[in-house]
Amino acid sequence: MCGIVGYIGNSEKKSMLLNGLKELEYRGYDSAGISILSEGNLQTFKAVGKISNLERKCHNFTSEGFGLGIGHTRWATHGKPTEVNAHPHFGTFSNIVHNGIIENYQSLKESLQKEGKHFISQTDTEVIVHLFESYVEKSQNILEAFTKTIHNLKGAYAILLITQKSADTIYYAKNGSPLIIGKNNNEIFFASSDAPLIGLVTEVSYLQDGAIGAMNLQNFKNLENIQPLLQDKLTAQKDGFAFFMEKEIYEQHRVLLETMIGRVQEDCFILEELRAIDLQSISSITLCACGTSYHSALTGSYLLEKIAKIKTKVEIASEFRYKEPILNSGELFVVISQSGETADTLEALKLIKRQGFQTLSICNVDNSSIVRESHTTILTRAGIEKGVASTKAFSTQVMVLWILAGFLAQIKGILPKTEAQKIIQSMFKATHLTKVNIKMHEHIKRLTKRYLHGHGFFFIGRDIFYPLALEGALKLKEISYLHAEGYPSGEMKHGPIALADTRLFCVALMPQNLLYEKIKSNVEELSARDATICAVTSEYYEGSDDWIKTSQAQTYMEEFFEMMVALQLFALEVSLRLGNDVDMPRNLAKSVTVE
Ligand code: G6P
Repeated sequence: MCGIVGYIGNSEKKSMLLNGLKELEYRGYDSAGISILSEGNLQTFKAVGKISNLERKCHNFTSEGFGLGIGHTRWATHGKPTEVNAHPHFGTFSNIVHNGIIENYQSLKESLQKEGKHFISQTDTEVIVHLFESYVEKSQNILEAFTKTIHNLKGAYAILLITQKSADTIYYAKNGSPLIIGKNNNEIFFASSDAPLIGLVTEVSYLQDGAIGAMNLQNFKNLENIQPLLQDKLTAQKDGFAFFMEKEIYEQHRVLLETMIGRVQEDCFILEELRAIDLQSISSITLCACGTSYHSALTGSYLLEKIAKIKTKVEIASEFRYKEPILNSGELFVVISQSGETADTLEALKLIKRQGFQTLSICNVDNSSIVRESHTTILTRAGIEKGVASTKAFSTQVMVLWILAGFLAQIKGILPKTEAQKIIQSMFKATHLTKVNIKMHEHIKRLTKRYLHGHGFFFIGRDIFYPLALEGALKLKEISYLHAEGYPSGEMKHGPIALADTRLFCVALMPQNLLYEKIKSNVEELSARDATICAVTSEYYEGSDDWIKTSQAQTYMEEFFEMMVALQLFALEVSLRLGNDVDMPRNLAKSVTVE
Protein backbone atom coordinates (compact mmCIF):
# COMPACT_ATOMS: atom_id res chain seq x y z
CA MET A 1 0.00 0.00 0.00
CA CYS A 2 1.74 3.09 -1.23
CA GLY A 3 5.43 2.86 -2.00
CA ILE A 4 8.23 5.13 -0.87
CA VAL A 5 11.73 5.63 -2.23
CA GLY A 6 14.54 8.02 -1.39
CA TYR A 7 18.02 8.63 -2.78
CA ILE A 8 21.19 10.54 -1.80
CA GLY A 9 24.14 10.61 -4.21
CA ASN A 10 25.61 11.70 -7.52
CA SER A 11 23.65 9.60 -10.01
CA GLU A 12 20.81 11.03 -12.07
CA LYS A 13 18.21 11.31 -9.33
CA LYS A 14 15.09 11.34 -11.45
CA SER A 15 15.83 7.93 -12.95
CA MET A 16 16.90 6.49 -9.61
CA LEU A 17 13.58 7.49 -8.09
CA LEU A 18 11.42 6.46 -11.05
CA ASN A 19 13.13 3.07 -11.31
CA GLY A 20 12.54 2.49 -7.61
CA LEU A 21 8.90 3.52 -7.86
CA LYS A 22 8.31 1.15 -10.76
CA GLU A 23 9.34 -1.73 -8.49
CA LEU A 24 6.74 -0.61 -5.97
CA GLU A 25 3.99 0.43 -8.35
CA TYR A 26 1.96 -2.75 -7.82
CA ARG A 27 1.49 -1.63 -4.20
CA GLY A 28 -0.53 1.45 -5.11
CA TYR A 29 -1.05 3.24 -8.37
CA ASP A 30 -3.61 6.02 -7.92
CA SER A 31 -0.96 8.69 -8.42
CA ALA A 32 2.78 9.19 -8.09
CA GLY A 33 5.31 11.93 -7.53
CA ILE A 34 8.96 12.81 -6.96
CA SER A 35 10.86 15.74 -5.42
CA ILE A 36 14.52 16.41 -6.11
CA LEU A 37 16.80 18.73 -4.17
CA SER A 38 20.02 19.61 -5.95
CA GLU A 39 22.18 22.74 -5.84
CA GLY A 40 19.63 24.41 -3.58
CA ASN A 41 16.70 23.88 -5.99
CA LEU A 42 13.73 21.84 -4.91
CA GLN A 43 11.72 20.48 -7.86
CA THR A 44 8.50 18.46 -7.63
CA PHE A 45 6.59 16.50 -10.27
CA LYS A 46 3.31 14.70 -9.73
CA ALA A 47 0.84 12.85 -11.92
CA VAL A 48 -2.45 11.00 -11.48
CA GLY A 49 -2.43 7.31 -12.39
CA LYS A 50 0.54 5.17 -13.21
CA ILE A 51 4.26 5.97 -13.05
CA SER A 52 4.35 6.15 -16.86
CA ASN A 53 2.26 9.36 -16.59
CA LEU A 54 4.75 10.81 -14.14
CA GLU A 55 7.61 9.77 -16.40
CA ARG A 56 6.04 11.71 -19.30
CA LYS A 57 5.61 14.76 -17.07
CA CYS A 58 9.25 15.02 -16.09
CA HIS A 59 10.62 13.81 -19.39
CA ASN A 60 12.73 16.92 -20.00
CA PHE A 61 14.11 17.24 -16.49
CA THR A 62 17.54 15.93 -15.46
CA SER A 63 19.50 16.44 -12.28
CA GLU A 64 23.24 15.89 -12.55
CA GLY A 65 25.69 16.22 -9.66
CA PHE A 66 25.18 15.64 -5.96
CA GLY A 67 21.66 15.82 -4.61
CA LEU A 68 18.82 13.96 -3.05
CA GLY A 69 15.27 12.99 -3.81
CA ILE A 70 12.14 11.31 -2.53
CA GLY A 71 9.33 9.57 -4.40
CA HIS A 72 5.96 8.02 -3.73
CA THR A 73 3.35 5.91 -5.44
CA ARG A 74 -0.03 6.25 -3.79
CA TRP A 75 -3.03 4.19 -2.76
CA ALA A 76 -5.45 6.87 -1.60
CA THR A 77 -6.64 6.88 2.01
CA HIS A 78 -7.49 10.54 2.70
CA GLY A 79 -8.66 12.53 -0.28
CA LYS A 80 -9.32 11.53 -3.86
CA PRO A 81 -6.54 10.34 -6.17
CA THR A 82 -5.88 13.79 -7.65
CA GLU A 83 -2.61 15.51 -8.47
CA VAL A 84 -2.97 17.87 -5.52
CA ASN A 85 -3.42 14.95 -3.17
CA ALA A 86 -0.45 13.06 -4.65
CA HIS A 87 2.81 12.99 -2.68
CA PRO A 88 5.31 14.60 -2.18
CA HIS A 89 3.50 17.25 -0.14
CA PHE A 90 5.22 20.54 0.44
CA GLY A 91 5.42 23.56 2.66
CA THR A 92 7.62 26.57 1.89
CA PHE A 93 11.05 24.94 1.97
CA SER A 94 10.46 21.24 2.61
CA ASN A 95 8.84 18.24 0.93
CA ILE A 96 7.59 14.98 2.36
CA VAL A 97 6.41 11.50 1.38
CA HIS A 98 4.46 9.29 3.77
CA ASN A 99 2.97 5.79 3.95
CA GLY A 100 0.35 5.08 6.57
CA ILE A 101 -2.32 7.13 8.28
CA ILE A 102 -2.01 10.05 10.69
CA GLU A 103 -5.00 9.59 12.97
CA ASN A 104 -4.83 12.99 14.69
CA TYR A 105 -4.29 15.01 11.51
CA GLN A 106 -7.56 16.92 11.85
CA SER A 107 -6.69 18.53 15.20
CA LEU A 108 -3.11 19.23 14.08
CA LYS A 109 -4.43 20.84 10.92
CA GLU A 110 -6.79 23.10 12.83
CA SER A 111 -4.05 24.44 15.08
CA LEU A 112 -1.65 24.92 12.16
CA GLN A 113 -4.36 26.79 10.26
CA LYS A 114 -4.74 29.08 13.26
CA GLU A 115 -1.00 29.76 13.00
CA GLY A 116 -1.60 30.84 9.39
CA LYS A 117 -0.43 27.70 7.54
CA HIS A 118 -2.22 27.25 4.25
CA PHE A 119 -3.33 23.74 3.21
CA ILE A 120 -4.02 22.77 -0.36
CA SER A 121 -4.68 19.01 -0.21
CA GLN A 122 -7.25 16.82 1.53
CA THR A 123 -4.58 14.47 2.82
CA ASP A 124 -3.47 13.68 6.34
CA THR A 125 0.16 13.86 5.18
CA GLU A 126 0.24 17.58 4.49
CA VAL A 127 0.02 18.37 8.22
CA ILE A 128 3.42 16.75 8.78
CA VAL A 129 5.32 19.10 6.53
CA HIS A 130 3.58 22.21 7.90
CA LEU A 131 4.13 21.10 11.47
CA PHE A 132 7.81 20.51 10.72
CA GLU A 133 8.22 23.96 9.17
CA SER A 134 6.44 25.54 12.07
CA TYR A 135 8.97 23.95 14.48
CA VAL A 136 11.91 24.94 12.23
CA GLU A 137 10.70 28.54 12.26
CA LYS A 138 10.75 28.42 16.06
CA SER A 139 13.98 26.51 16.77
CA GLN A 140 16.21 26.45 13.65
CA ASN A 141 17.55 23.03 14.70
CA ILE A 142 16.35 20.78 11.91
CA LEU A 143 16.63 17.36 13.54
CA GLU A 144 15.06 18.67 16.72
CA ALA A 145 12.18 20.16 14.73
CA PHE A 146 11.71 16.89 12.85
CA THR A 147 11.79 14.84 16.06
CA LYS A 148 9.22 17.11 17.73
CA THR A 149 7.01 16.79 14.65
CA ILE A 150 7.12 13.01 14.75
CA HIS A 151 6.39 12.94 18.47
CA ASN A 152 3.17 14.83 17.75
CA LEU A 153 1.88 12.22 15.31
CA LYS A 154 -0.53 9.44 16.21
CA GLY A 155 -0.94 6.56 13.80
CA ALA A 156 1.18 4.51 11.44
CA TYR A 157 3.83 6.00 9.25
CA ALA A 158 6.98 5.67 7.22
CA ILE A 159 8.16 9.18 6.40
CA LEU A 160 10.92 10.75 4.31
CA LEU A 161 11.43 14.50 4.40
CA ILE A 162 13.85 16.76 2.52
CA THR A 163 14.38 20.43 3.19
CA GLN A 164 16.30 23.28 1.63
CA LYS A 165 17.55 24.09 5.13
CA SER A 166 19.73 20.97 5.08
CA ALA A 167 20.49 20.04 1.50
CA ASP A 168 22.54 16.86 2.06
CA THR A 169 20.20 15.02 4.42
CA ILE A 170 17.03 12.97 4.29
CA TYR A 171 15.03 12.93 7.53
CA TYR A 172 13.19 9.68 8.21
CA ALA A 173 10.79 8.18 10.72
CA LYS A 174 9.12 4.81 11.00
CA ASN A 175 6.25 3.51 13.06
CA GLY A 176 4.07 0.62 11.94
CA SER A 177 4.85 0.96 8.21
CA PRO A 178 8.02 -0.61 6.80
CA LEU A 179 11.10 1.45 5.88
CA ILE A 180 14.52 0.23 4.80
CA ILE A 181 17.79 2.12 4.29
CA GLY A 182 20.58 0.73 2.12
CA LYS A 183 24.05 1.96 1.16
CA ASN A 184 26.72 1.28 -1.41
CA ASN A 185 30.06 3.13 -1.68
CA ASN A 186 28.77 6.66 -1.94
CA GLU A 187 25.03 6.47 -2.28
CA ILE A 188 22.15 5.98 0.16
CA PHE A 189 18.81 4.48 -0.79
CA PHE A 190 15.50 4.37 1.06
CA ALA A 191 12.54 2.16 0.21
CA SER A 192 9.41 0.81 1.80
CA SER A 193 10.32 -2.75 0.71
CA ASP A 194 13.51 -4.34 -0.50
CA ALA A 195 12.55 -4.83 -4.19
CA PRO A 196 13.83 -1.38 -5.36
CA LEU A 197 17.11 -1.93 -3.52
CA ILE A 198 18.04 -5.26 -5.07
CA GLY A 199 21.06 -4.88 -7.33
CA LEU A 200 21.84 -1.41 -5.97
CA VAL A 201 23.03 -2.13 -2.46
CA THR A 202 24.42 -5.12 -0.63
CA GLU A 203 23.68 -4.00 2.91
CA VAL A 204 20.48 -2.68 4.42
CA SER A 205 19.00 -1.70 7.74
CA TYR A 206 15.38 -2.63 8.39
CA LEU A 207 14.29 0.21 10.64
CA GLN A 208 12.46 -0.58 13.87
CA ASP A 209 9.29 1.12 15.04
CA GLY A 210 10.14 4.38 16.75
CA ALA A 211 13.14 5.07 14.49
CA ILE A 212 13.66 8.80 13.84
CA GLY A 213 16.79 10.15 12.24
CA ALA A 214 18.76 12.25 9.79
CA MET A 215 20.68 10.37 7.10
CA ASN A 216 23.52 11.59 4.94
CA LEU A 217 26.53 9.93 3.34
CA GLN A 218 28.52 10.13 6.55
CA ASN A 219 26.28 8.43 9.06
CA PHE A 220 24.91 5.19 7.55
CA LYS A 221 27.27 3.10 9.67
CA ASN A 222 25.62 4.42 12.82
CA LEU A 223 22.44 2.50 12.02
CA GLU A 224 21.55 -0.61 13.99
CA ASN A 225 20.72 -3.98 12.53
CA ILE A 226 22.64 -3.70 9.23
CA GLN A 227 22.17 -6.91 7.24
CA PRO A 228 23.15 -8.26 3.82
CA LEU A 229 20.43 -7.94 1.17
CA LEU A 230 19.57 -11.00 -0.91
CA GLN A 231 20.00 -10.31 -4.61
CA ASP A 232 17.25 -12.41 -6.20
CA LYS A 233 15.35 -10.21 -8.60
CA LEU A 234 14.79 -12.69 -11.41
CA THR A 235 11.63 -14.01 -9.83
CA ALA A 236 9.92 -10.67 -10.42
CA GLN A 237 10.16 -10.66 -14.24
CA LYS A 238 7.24 -11.59 -16.50
CA ASP A 239 9.14 -14.40 -18.31
CA GLY A 240 7.33 -13.88 -21.61
CA PHE A 241 3.82 -13.78 -20.14
CA ALA A 242 1.69 -10.75 -20.85
CA PHE A 243 0.69 -10.35 -17.20
CA PHE A 244 2.26 -11.09 -13.85
CA MET A 245 -0.93 -12.78 -12.72
CA GLU A 246 -0.84 -15.22 -15.63
CA LYS A 247 2.85 -15.94 -15.07
CA GLU A 248 2.21 -16.49 -11.38
CA ILE A 249 -0.64 -18.94 -12.09
CA TYR A 250 1.59 -20.86 -14.48
CA GLU A 251 4.53 -21.15 -12.09
CA GLN A 252 2.52 -22.62 -9.22
CA HIS A 253 3.64 -26.20 -9.77
CA ARG A 254 7.28 -25.10 -9.47
CA VAL A 255 6.91 -22.94 -6.37
CA LEU A 256 4.78 -25.61 -4.69
CA LEU A 257 7.60 -28.11 -5.17
CA GLU A 258 10.03 -25.57 -3.75
CA THR A 259 7.76 -25.05 -0.75
CA MET A 260 7.85 -28.83 -0.13
CA ILE A 261 11.63 -29.24 -0.41
CA GLY A 262 13.20 -30.42 2.84
CA ARG A 263 9.80 -30.43 4.55
CA VAL A 264 8.28 -33.45 2.86
CA GLN A 265 10.17 -36.77 2.87
CA GLU A 266 8.99 -40.13 1.58
CA ASP A 267 6.91 -40.97 4.63
CA CYS A 268 7.29 -38.11 7.07
CA PHE A 269 7.17 -34.34 7.48
CA ILE A 270 9.99 -32.16 8.80
CA LEU A 271 9.44 -28.60 9.99
CA GLU A 272 12.71 -27.40 11.49
CA GLU A 273 11.08 -23.99 11.84
CA LEU A 274 8.88 -25.32 14.65
CA ARG A 275 11.80 -26.17 16.93
CA ALA A 276 11.30 -22.79 18.55
CA ILE A 277 7.84 -23.84 19.70
CA ASP A 278 6.78 -26.15 22.51
CA LEU A 279 4.74 -28.49 20.35
CA GLN A 280 3.65 -30.80 23.15
CA SER A 281 1.73 -28.00 24.82
CA ILE A 282 -0.40 -27.13 21.78
CA SER A 283 -4.03 -28.03 22.35
CA SER A 284 -5.69 -25.71 19.86
CA ILE A 285 -4.82 -23.27 17.10
CA THR A 286 -6.08 -19.87 16.01
CA LEU A 287 -5.33 -18.84 12.45
CA CYS A 288 -5.57 -15.14 11.68
CA ALA A 289 -5.24 -13.30 8.35
CA CYS A 290 -6.82 -10.97 5.78
CA GLY A 291 -8.06 -11.33 2.21
CA THR A 292 -6.78 -14.29 0.26
CA SER A 293 -4.61 -15.31 3.20
CA TYR A 294 -7.79 -15.55 5.26
CA HIS A 295 -9.13 -18.02 2.70
CA SER A 296 -6.01 -20.13 2.99
CA ALA A 297 -6.45 -19.98 6.78
CA LEU A 298 -10.01 -21.30 6.42
CA THR A 299 -8.71 -24.05 4.14
CA GLY A 300 -6.02 -24.83 6.72
CA SER A 301 -8.59 -25.16 9.49
CA TYR A 302 -10.24 -28.07 7.67
CA LEU A 303 -6.85 -29.75 7.16
CA LEU A 304 -5.71 -29.24 10.75
CA GLU A 305 -8.93 -30.66 12.15
CA LYS A 306 -9.17 -33.56 9.67
CA ILE A 307 -5.53 -34.63 9.73
CA ALA A 308 -4.05 -33.42 13.03
CA LYS A 309 -7.33 -33.52 15.00
CA ILE A 310 -6.53 -30.14 16.56
CA LYS A 311 -9.35 -27.73 17.25
CA THR A 312 -8.77 -24.75 14.98
CA LYS A 313 -10.43 -21.32 14.85
CA VAL A 314 -10.08 -18.82 12.06
CA GLU A 315 -10.17 -15.06 12.55
CA ILE A 316 -10.26 -12.07 10.20
CA ALA A 317 -7.45 -9.89 11.57
CA SER A 318 -9.33 -6.57 11.42
CA GLU A 319 -12.18 -8.05 13.46
CA PHE A 320 -9.99 -9.99 15.84
CA ARG A 321 -8.00 -6.94 16.95
CA TYR A 322 -10.91 -5.19 18.56
CA LYS A 323 -13.06 -8.03 19.85
CA GLU A 324 -11.09 -8.48 23.08
CA PRO A 325 -10.04 -11.96 21.99
CA ILE A 326 -9.73 -14.85 24.39
CA LEU A 327 -7.23 -17.60 23.70
CA ASN A 328 -6.95 -20.83 25.70
CA SER A 329 -3.71 -21.75 27.39
CA GLY A 330 -1.89 -24.09 25.03
CA GLU A 331 -3.23 -22.24 22.01
CA LEU A 332 -0.84 -21.63 19.13
CA PHE A 333 -1.48 -18.35 17.34
CA VAL A 334 -0.70 -18.46 13.62
CA VAL A 335 -0.80 -15.47 11.30
CA ILE A 336 -0.76 -15.90 7.55
CA SER A 337 0.36 -13.17 5.21
CA GLN A 338 1.86 -13.01 1.75
CA SER A 339 3.52 -9.63 2.23
CA GLY A 340 4.26 -9.81 5.95
CA GLU A 341 3.25 -6.14 6.18
CA THR A 342 -0.56 -6.18 6.42
CA ALA A 343 -1.29 -3.77 9.26
CA ASP A 344 -4.28 -5.62 10.72
CA THR A 345 -2.49 -8.96 10.75
CA LEU A 346 0.67 -7.44 12.20
CA GLU A 347 -1.22 -5.70 15.00
CA ALA A 348 -3.20 -8.88 15.81
CA LEU A 349 0.14 -10.68 16.09
CA LYS A 350 1.59 -8.03 18.42
CA LEU A 351 -1.53 -8.12 20.59
CA ILE A 352 -1.34 -11.87 21.12
CA LYS A 353 2.42 -11.86 21.58
CA ARG A 354 2.01 -9.32 24.37
CA GLN A 355 -0.35 -11.77 26.08
CA GLY A 356 2.47 -14.33 26.19
CA PHE A 357 1.23 -16.83 23.58
CA GLN A 358 3.47 -18.70 21.16
CA THR A 359 3.24 -17.22 17.69
CA LEU A 360 3.97 -18.67 14.29
CA SER A 361 3.78 -16.84 10.98
CA ILE A 362 3.33 -18.32 7.53
CA CYS A 363 4.73 -15.70 5.24
CA ASN A 364 6.20 -15.18 1.79
CA VAL A 365 8.58 -12.31 2.57
CA ASP A 366 11.59 -12.99 4.74
CA ASN A 367 12.58 -10.08 6.97
CA SER A 368 9.12 -8.53 6.70
CA SER A 369 7.58 -6.99 9.82
CA ILE A 370 5.43 -10.05 10.53
CA VAL A 371 8.39 -12.41 10.19
CA ARG A 372 10.46 -10.29 12.53
CA GLU A 373 7.66 -9.99 15.07
CA SER A 374 6.63 -13.67 15.32
CA HIS A 375 8.47 -16.29 17.40
CA THR A 376 9.05 -18.41 14.34
CA THR A 377 8.09 -18.51 10.68
CA ILE A 378 7.44 -21.04 7.99
CA LEU A 379 8.29 -19.27 4.76
CA THR A 380 6.23 -20.00 1.70
CA ARG A 381 8.63 -20.07 -1.19
CA ALA A 382 6.39 -18.49 -3.82
CA GLY A 383 8.96 -15.89 -4.90
CA ILE A 384 7.97 -12.28 -5.41
CA GLU A 385 4.25 -12.05 -6.20
CA LYS A 386 3.43 -8.93 -8.21
CA GLY A 387 -0.11 -9.52 -9.43
CA VAL A 388 -2.40 -7.77 -6.98
CA ALA A 389 -4.80 -10.71 -7.19
CA SER A 390 -2.91 -13.30 -5.19
CA THR A 391 -2.49 -16.75 -6.76
CA LYS A 392 0.78 -18.54 -6.06
CA ALA A 393 0.93 -17.07 -2.56
CA PHE A 394 -2.44 -18.71 -1.84
CA SER A 395 -1.44 -22.12 -3.15
CA THR A 396 1.87 -22.16 -1.27
CA GLN A 397 0.11 -21.09 1.93
CA VAL A 398 -2.33 -23.97 1.55
CA MET A 399 0.59 -26.32 0.94
CA VAL A 400 2.36 -25.13 4.09
CA LEU A 401 -0.82 -25.59 6.12
CA TRP A 402 -1.24 -29.09 4.69
CA ILE A 403 2.35 -29.93 5.66
CA LEU A 404 1.79 -28.38 9.09
CA ALA A 405 -1.31 -30.57 9.59
CA GLY A 406 0.69 -33.69 8.65
CA PHE A 407 3.59 -32.66 10.86
CA LEU A 408 1.41 -32.00 13.92
CA ALA A 409 -0.42 -35.32 13.41
CA GLN A 410 2.99 -37.01 13.30
CA ILE A 411 4.08 -35.27 16.53
CA LYS A 412 0.85 -36.37 18.23
CA GLY A 413 1.55 -39.95 17.14
CA ILE A 414 -1.71 -40.25 15.22
CA LEU A 415 -0.25 -40.50 11.72
CA PRO A 416 1.01 -43.97 10.79
CA LYS A 417 3.77 -43.94 8.19
CA THR A 418 1.47 -45.55 5.62
CA GLU A 419 -0.99 -42.66 6.06
CA ALA A 420 1.80 -40.08 5.87
CA GLN A 421 2.95 -41.72 2.65
CA LYS A 422 -0.55 -41.43 1.17
CA ILE A 423 -0.75 -37.73 2.05
CA ILE A 424 2.69 -37.09 0.59
CA GLN A 425 1.85 -38.88 -2.65
CA SER A 426 -1.29 -36.81 -2.85
CA MET A 427 0.76 -33.62 -2.29
CA PHE A 428 2.96 -34.46 -5.27
CA LYS A 429 -0.03 -35.32 -7.46
CA ALA A 430 -1.84 -32.15 -6.39
CA THR A 431 1.23 -30.11 -7.26
CA HIS A 432 1.45 -31.82 -10.63
CA LEU A 433 -2.20 -30.94 -11.28
CA THR A 434 -1.47 -27.24 -10.86
CA LYS A 435 0.65 -27.38 -14.03
CA VAL A 436 -1.61 -25.48 -16.37
CA ASN A 437 -3.27 -27.70 -18.91
CA ILE A 438 -3.28 -25.57 -22.06
CA LYS A 439 -6.46 -27.20 -23.34
CA MET A 440 -8.23 -26.33 -20.14
CA HIS A 441 -6.95 -22.76 -20.33
CA GLU A 442 -8.16 -22.43 -23.94
CA HIS A 443 -11.54 -23.88 -23.02
CA ILE A 444 -11.93 -21.45 -20.09
CA LYS A 445 -10.89 -18.57 -22.34
CA ARG A 446 -13.66 -19.51 -24.79
CA LEU A 447 -16.44 -20.09 -22.29
CA THR A 448 -15.86 -16.84 -20.38
CA LYS A 449 -17.55 -14.93 -23.21
CA ARG A 450 -20.86 -16.15 -21.77
CA TYR A 451 -20.12 -14.73 -18.32
CA LEU A 452 -19.71 -11.02 -18.85
CA HIS A 453 -23.20 -9.85 -17.99
CA GLY A 454 -25.88 -11.14 -15.60
CA HIS A 455 -26.59 -9.94 -12.11
CA GLY A 456 -23.87 -11.74 -10.27
CA PHE A 457 -21.97 -14.91 -9.53
CA PHE A 458 -22.20 -17.50 -6.81
CA PHE A 459 -19.21 -19.76 -6.35
CA ILE A 460 -20.38 -22.73 -4.31
CA GLY A 461 -18.68 -25.65 -2.62
CA ARG A 462 -18.86 -27.76 0.51
CA ASP A 463 -16.36 -28.53 3.24
CA ILE A 464 -12.82 -27.51 2.20
CA PHE A 465 -14.20 -26.47 -1.19
CA TYR A 466 -16.16 -23.72 0.54
CA PRO A 467 -13.02 -21.60 1.22
CA LEU A 468 -11.96 -22.36 -2.33
CA ALA A 469 -15.34 -21.03 -3.51
CA LEU A 470 -14.73 -17.89 -1.44
CA GLU A 471 -11.32 -17.48 -3.04
CA GLY A 472 -12.70 -18.07 -6.55
CA ALA A 473 -15.30 -15.33 -5.97
CA LEU A 474 -12.71 -12.95 -4.52
CA LYS A 475 -10.40 -13.46 -7.52
CA LEU A 476 -13.23 -12.70 -9.90
CA LYS A 477 -14.46 -9.57 -8.17
CA GLU A 478 -10.95 -8.19 -7.60
CA ILE A 479 -10.12 -8.09 -11.29
CA SER A 480 -13.45 -8.15 -13.15
CA TYR A 481 -15.38 -5.73 -10.87
CA LEU A 482 -18.39 -8.07 -11.23
CA HIS A 483 -20.33 -8.99 -8.14
CA ALA A 484 -19.37 -12.45 -6.93
CA GLU A 485 -19.98 -14.32 -3.70
CA GLY A 486 -18.61 -17.54 -2.33
CA TYR A 487 -21.16 -19.64 -0.48
CA PRO A 488 -21.39 -23.05 1.17
CA SER A 489 -23.61 -24.88 -1.28
CA GLY A 490 -25.76 -26.35 1.50
CA GLU A 491 -26.66 -22.83 2.63
CA MET A 492 -27.99 -21.62 -0.71
CA LYS A 493 -31.48 -22.85 0.14
CA HIS A 494 -31.54 -20.63 3.24
CA GLY A 495 -31.82 -17.37 1.34
CA PRO A 496 -29.53 -16.82 -1.66
CA ILE A 497 -31.50 -19.23 -3.85
CA ALA A 498 -34.08 -16.43 -4.05
CA LEU A 499 -31.71 -14.81 -6.56
CA ALA A 500 -31.73 -17.79 -8.91
CA ASP A 501 -32.84 -17.05 -12.46
CA THR A 502 -31.29 -17.27 -15.92
CA ARG A 503 -29.06 -14.28 -15.18
CA LEU A 504 -27.52 -15.77 -12.05
CA PHE A 505 -24.19 -17.44 -12.76
CA CYS A 506 -23.24 -20.27 -10.51
CA VAL A 507 -19.76 -21.80 -10.53
CA ALA A 508 -20.15 -25.15 -8.76
CA LEU A 509 -17.13 -26.96 -7.31
CA MET A 510 -18.07 -30.63 -7.53
CA PRO A 511 -15.22 -32.86 -6.34
CA GLN A 512 -15.75 -36.58 -6.88
CA ASN A 513 -13.85 -37.43 -3.68
CA LEU A 514 -15.74 -35.33 -1.15
CA LEU A 515 -19.51 -35.13 -0.64
CA TYR A 516 -20.23 -35.31 -4.39
CA GLU A 517 -23.84 -36.48 -4.02
CA LYS A 518 -24.58 -33.75 -1.48
CA ILE A 519 -23.29 -30.93 -3.60
CA LYS A 520 -24.99 -32.40 -6.66
CA SER A 521 -28.35 -32.06 -4.90
CA ASN A 522 -27.57 -28.44 -4.02
CA VAL A 523 -26.63 -27.68 -7.63
CA GLU A 524 -29.79 -29.38 -8.89
CA GLU A 525 -31.88 -27.04 -6.75
CA LEU A 526 -30.27 -24.09 -8.53
CA SER A 527 -30.42 -25.67 -11.94
CA ALA A 528 -34.16 -26.34 -11.45
CA ARG A 529 -34.61 -22.60 -10.93
CA ASP A 530 -32.85 -21.81 -14.20
CA ALA A 531 -29.57 -20.48 -12.81
CA THR A 532 -26.72 -20.83 -15.30
CA ILE A 533 -24.45 -23.54 -13.95
CA CYS A 534 -20.76 -23.85 -14.74
CA ALA A 535 -19.71 -27.15 -13.18
CA VAL A 536 -16.07 -27.67 -12.24
CA THR A 537 -15.72 -31.42 -11.98
CA SER A 538 -14.17 -34.46 -13.62
CA GLU A 539 -17.40 -36.24 -14.68
CA TYR A 540 -20.06 -34.79 -16.94
CA TYR A 541 -23.01 -33.53 -14.94
CA GLU A 542 -26.23 -33.24 -16.91
CA GLY A 543 -27.60 -30.32 -14.90
CA SER A 544 -24.78 -28.02 -16.02
CA ASP A 545 -24.74 -25.41 -18.80
CA ASP A 546 -20.94 -25.36 -18.97
CA TRP A 547 -18.30 -27.78 -17.85
CA ILE A 548 -14.74 -27.12 -16.79
CA LYS A 549 -13.38 -30.64 -16.88
CA THR A 550 -10.84 -31.53 -14.24
CA SER A 551 -8.75 -34.71 -14.06
CA GLN A 552 -9.83 -37.98 -12.49
CA ALA A 553 -8.14 -37.83 -9.09
CA GLN A 554 -7.71 -40.12 -6.13
CA THR A 555 -8.07 -37.53 -3.36
CA TYR A 556 -10.06 -34.37 -2.76
CA MET A 557 -6.89 -32.29 -2.25
CA GLU A 558 -5.73 -33.16 -5.76
CA GLU A 559 -9.11 -31.94 -6.99
CA PHE A 560 -8.78 -28.85 -4.78
CA PHE A 561 -5.52 -27.73 -6.34
CA GLU A 562 -6.63 -28.32 -9.92
CA MET A 563 -9.93 -26.50 -9.34
CA MET A 564 -8.02 -23.63 -7.76
CA VAL A 565 -6.09 -23.14 -11.01
CA ALA A 566 -9.32 -23.33 -13.03
CA LEU A 567 -10.89 -20.56 -10.89
CA GLN A 568 -7.81 -18.35 -11.19
CA LEU A 569 -7.83 -18.73 -14.98
CA PHE A 570 -11.57 -18.07 -15.08
CA ALA A 571 -11.13 -14.76 -13.25
CA LEU A 572 -8.16 -13.82 -15.44
CA GLU A 573 -10.01 -14.46 -18.70
CA VAL A 574 -13.23 -12.68 -17.66
CA SER A 575 -11.16 -9.68 -16.62
CA LEU A 576 -9.22 -9.63 -19.91
CA ARG A 577 -12.42 -9.82 -21.94
CA LEU A 578 -13.70 -6.81 -20.01
CA GLY A 579 -10.53 -4.91 -20.88
CA ASN A 580 -9.32 -4.50 -17.29
CA ASP A 581 -5.80 -4.21 -15.98
CA VAL A 582 -5.44 -7.62 -14.32
CA ASP A 583 -2.16 -6.85 -12.56
CA MET A 584 -3.23 -3.51 -11.13
CA PRO A 585 -6.99 -3.61 -10.66
CA ARG A 586 -8.76 -0.43 -9.67
CA ASN A 587 -8.95 0.61 -6.00
CA LEU A 588 -6.75 -2.23 -4.72
CA ALA A 589 -3.20 -2.47 -3.46
CA LYS A 590 -0.88 -5.40 -3.02
CA SER A 591 0.09 -4.75 0.52
CA VAL A 592 -2.27 -2.95 2.88
CA THR A 593 -0.25 -1.22 5.58
CA VAL A 594 -3.13 0.81 6.98
CA GLU A 595 -5.87 -0.60 9.19
C1 G6P B 1 -4.55 -6.98 0.12
C2 G6P B 1 -4.30 -7.72 -1.18
C3 G6P B 1 -4.88 -9.14 -1.10
C4 G6P B 1 -4.30 -9.86 0.10
C5 G6P B 1 -4.55 -9.08 1.40
C6 G6P B 1 -3.79 -9.68 2.57
O1 G6P B 1 -5.90 -6.71 0.25
O2 G6P B 1 -4.88 -7.03 -2.28
O3 G6P B 1 -4.54 -9.85 -2.27
O4 G6P B 1 -4.86 -11.13 0.19
O5 G6P B 1 -4.10 -7.73 1.25
O6 G6P B 1 -2.42 -9.55 2.30
P1 G6P B 1 -1.26 -10.39 2.95
O7 G6P B 1 -0.02 -9.82 2.35
O8 G6P B 1 -1.34 -10.19 4.42
O9 G6P B 1 -1.48 -11.81 2.58
